[in-house]
Parts: sequence; C-alpha cells; structure tokens
Amino acid sequence: MEKLKLSVYISEEDIQKKVKELGQKVTSRLKGKNPVVVCILKGSFVFYSDLIRSIETDLECEFFGVSSYHGNTSSSGEVKVTLDLSHPVEGRDVVLVEDIVDTGLTMNYLKSTILSRKPKSLTLVSLLEKPEALKVPCELDFVGFKVPNDFVVGYGLDYQGYYRNLPYIALVQNFQ
Ligand code: IMP
Ligand code: MG
Repeated sequence: MEKLKLSVYISEEDIQKKVKELGQKVTSRLKGKNPVVVCILKGSFVFYSDLIRSIETDLECEFFGVSSYHGNTSSSGEVKVTLDLSHPVEGRDVVLVEDIVDTGLTMNYLKSTILSRKPKSLTLVSLLEKPEALKVPCELDFVGFKVPNDFVVGYGLDYQGYYRNLPYIALVQNFQ
C-alpha cells in the first residue's frame, strides 16, 4: 500500500461531538416514527455505526453499496451499485447516511434512486461536504463539517481501500 503523509484535520473528539449533534437533529425530525436508516457503503459505515447510536427512535438499518471513485482521488461521475437495499422503502421515512459529498454526483444519484421508490420522506445526512467541489446542486438536510477541496482519509474514508480505520479525519499532505 502507498504510505501517505497525513495530518490530523478533525480530531476524534470533535467528530464524536458532532455525530451526537447530528443524531439529535435526526431524532428531532423523526422521533416517534420508525425510519429506515441507510448506510451508504463503504465509506459511511464508521460514521453510520456511531450515528445510529445517537438517534433516539426505533429504526431499521439498511445498507446500500455504491462505488463512485474506483480507487482514484477524482470522481469519475459514474456510480456503480454494488449492493441494493434488502427491502422496499415505499411509504417509509428514509434517512440516507453518506460520509462525504464531493461533486454531489453520488448523492444525487442516490436521491433520485430512492425517490423513485416512493418513500414517505427522505432525509439526507453527510458527515462532510466539500462545497467548492460541487458539480451539481446537492441540498443536504444535515451536514457535520464543510471541508476544503482537498483529499481526506480516516473514520471510514479511504485512499485505495486503506486508512478507513483511523479514528480521526486526516488531510493527505503529499497530493499534487
Ligand atoms: P461525489 O460523487 O463526487 O460526491 O463523491 C462522493 C464519494 O467519493 C464519497 O462517498 C466518497 O466515497 C468519495 N470521496 C470524495 N471525496 C473524498 C475524499 O476526500 N476522501 C475519500 N473519499 C472521498
Ligand atoms: Mg462514499
């Protein structure tokens, strides 16, 4: 694997604090409902597992696998579905949980795919957003941190499959 030069960008402590806040926001929107909370694989699985434990309402977990980066650091714009939801979401309150919105292409694809299945409501949550990188408009309901147009890894985010297990988010220093 390629060894990257990293610097801590968002500490473990700051992430945990933010995730609790996001959990409270989702709770206030969906308290008393039984939402289906969807983990977008692979990147969001770490954030997702912390977030669901901060949501105080009865919920179901679902997993939706997409691949949009193909191991590179710039988005290809293509979205490949690697794992579909295991149940229909028609009539359900659905929450989509992403790690990062970069160009917005993946989130837009996911949004239209889920909306075509006629949920009762759809809430979009992302831990990170790169507003300068957006290529298509992408309105999120809840965002953790806005980050500059640099490459970050850790807390689920990878570079060529590695670095997902860092407990913090790191900025990659040696990128052109
Ligand atoms: P988008 O379609 O360009 O918005 O890309 C979204 C996906 O690209 C995310 O779900 C991530 O998996 C990946 N991605 C975008 N930026 C980064 C980054 O800085 N580090 C790691 N993965 C990223
Ligand atoms: Mg992702």
